[in-house]
Amino acid sequence: MLLLVFYMVLHWFYWRACVIVRGSGKAFFASCNPKICVVGSGPAGFYTAQHLIKARQDAEVDIYERLPVPFGLVRFGVAPDHPEVKNVINTFTQTAKQSRCSFYGNVNVGKDVSIEELQQAYHAVVLSYGAEGNRTMGVPGEQLAGVYSAQNFVGWYNGLPSCQELNPDLSCETAVILGQGNVALDIARILLSPVDILKKTDITQPTLEALERSQIRNVLIIGRRGPLQIACTIKELREMVNLPDTRPEMVAADFNGVAEALKDVPRPRKRLTELMLKTALDTPGEKEQERRNKASRSWGFRFFRSPVEVLGDPDSMRVVGIRLAVNRLEGEGEGARAVLTGEVEDVKCGLVISSIGYKSVPIDPSVPFDSRKAIVPNNMGRVQHVSGLYCSGWLKTGPTGVIATTMNNSFDTARSLVEDIDSGTLDVSISKPGSQSISALLEKRGVKPVSFSDWEKIDNAEMKKGEASGKPREKLLSVEEMLRVVQT
Ligand SMILES: Cc1cc2nc3c(=O)[nH]c(=O)nc-3n(C[C@H](O)[C@H](O)[C@H](O)COP(=O)(O)OP(=O)(O)OC[C@H]3O[C@@H](n4cnc5c(N)ncnc54)[C@H](O)[C@@H]3O)c2cc1C
Ligand SMILES: NC(=O)c1ccc[n+]([C@@H]2O[C@H](COP(=O)([O-])OP(=O)(O)OC[C@H]3O[C@@H](n4cnc5c(N)ncnc54)[C@H](OP(=O)(O)O)[C@@H]3O)[C@@H](O)[C@H]2O)c1
Ligand SMILES: *[C@@H]1O[C@H](CO)[C@@H](O)[C@H](O)[C@H]1NC(C)=O
Ligand SMILES: *[C@@H]1O[C@H](CO)[C@@H](O)[C@H](O)[C@H]1NC(C)=O
Repeated sequence: MLLLVFYMVLHWFYWRACVIVRGSGKAFFASCNPKICVVGSGPAGFYTAQHLIKARQDAEVDIYERLPVPFGLVRFGVAPDHPEVKNVINTFTQTAKQSRCSFYGNVNVGKDVSIEELQQAYHAVVLSYGAEGNRTMGVPGEQLAGVYSAQNFVGWYNGLPSCQELNPDLSCETAVILGQGNVALDIARILLSPVDILKKTDITQPTLEALERSQIRNVLIIGRRGPLQIACTIKELREMVNLPDTRPEMVAADFNGVAEALKDVPRPRKRLTELMLKTALDTPGEKEQERRNKASRSWGFRFFRSPVEVLGDPDSMRVVGIRLAVNRLEGEGEGARAVLTGEVEDVKCGLVISSIGYKSVPIDPSVPFDSRKAIVPNNMGRVQHVSGLYCSGWLKTGPTGVIATTMNNSFDTARSLVEDIDSGTLDVSISKPGSQSISALLEKRGVKPVSFSDWEKIDNAEMKKGEASGKPREKLLSVEEMLRVVQT
């Protein structure tokens, strides 16, 4: 009896302590620390975790990732010839190595463990699993051989395990890329870069071999609107303009009226457009002219064109061309709309890559999803109508923005979450089991999580493999191979 009273008193103190601790933001009882889990280990996941750990000295953050390897599009999206962009990995690694942060790779949330199970185990769940689906053109012929989505094509050259069967046929002369964003320019650059340049990057070996055999001489980058609406940025355009052994080939008429419209345009777009105009219309100096004459490959923008049908060879079911609708613009500036004129035009090509944007997909039926906008509906990162559930990154905003944009919006989500803890909107007074219960569930289901130090084994193996061929790393190309390295 006495013992029971003693126990109850102790228990009362314990819960009181949690409340007091919550107020002061300091931890004395490990078991009432806010336990938060993050789904996805791209920039959004890592920046959210970083801010949570910094803002709450008592917060514990577990990151769950579907693949055995972390960093999302920093590893599988960012172009291999942009290694400086990947320096953010150093910051992410620092976060992962904090004692209050853990990484659980090789866990497919929605399949191996449900969001509801995570909600039971943690005080809060942050969804930051990115935008892995394709936006499709929705035109006949899209399924023909030789037609790829940017996701799959980029995934192929960057070593994403699910894209290694792609094996694109590069034996044609002309490739068409639909869309004029930075992803489209990444792809154009990879298709046209001298292989000697790419050899020194972490592009995969099978891609290098395919590019060595490539017959592609001409890449057309096609936009439905005009030069003043192009989605790429100046640095990426400049790289195209300066790409060794290539020359730009534009259609002068596409730029009618553009120079005149420039004075009312914001500065970044003005500079971008000026570079385009100079490239398309100016007579180059002697040296540049000589460079262009010697170039063995060419590229160019085509404007005011929307895809209507991918044309195939009926026997081989391979793409042989694309039918484009000719558009005119209605309205002005960023908001101008492409309107069909009724005219069409066929372009011969043997490769079509649609780079018209990524798209988030729902991973668990219990989570609200706005399928029109393809995002999780949220208010400053708080998922609508579900307390304790948050989102950040491309899943929150849609698939646009550079890493710095993703960082900002992830910090915003982390701030919302911390605010909710501080205000008591999010109840953290009841202790939660966190990874303990999830690990038990996963074990029961035969899922073996990969820890951050396991990833470091993979990382080392890849760097060692790369050293042999003078590359910063040679990526492992299958999940099985990655797991094998972990087990050694
Ligand atoms: C091709 C390409 C090139 C780019 N290049 C640049 C560049 O050069 N510079 C720049 O600043 N920005 C670049 N960006 C933009 C940048 O990559 C994004 O801003 C950023 O990656 C978005 O971060 P995220 O965390 O929301 O998504 P992601 O980076 O996609 O991360 C999502 C993570 O969630 C994981 N995941 C998915 N589903 C599940 C699941 N069910 N369970 C568990 N985990 C899951 C994924 O495996 C992935 O690791 C590029 C984007 C693309 C597409
Ligand atoms: N080096 C870098 O910094 C880098 C590299 C890669 C990616 N990123 C970033 O990652 C984000 C995603 O890049 P992204 O290139 O995928 O997207 P994006 O910049 O949004 O470009 C998408 C392109 O597809 C076009 N498009 C969309 N729907 C279309 C349709 N139905 N038919 C025809 N065309 C259509 C768009 O034209 P409209 O304008 O007419 O819609 C636009 O040209 C961007 O913010 C980008 O800056 C950065
Ligand atoms: C992308 O679209 C293609 C068809 O165009 C489809 O086969 C593929 O499964 C899609 N991928 C994803 C991740 O949705
Ligand atoms: C991120 O936020 C900072 C501070 O608010 C701002 O200065 C910067 O321009 C933002 N960056 C992007 C890419 O949105």
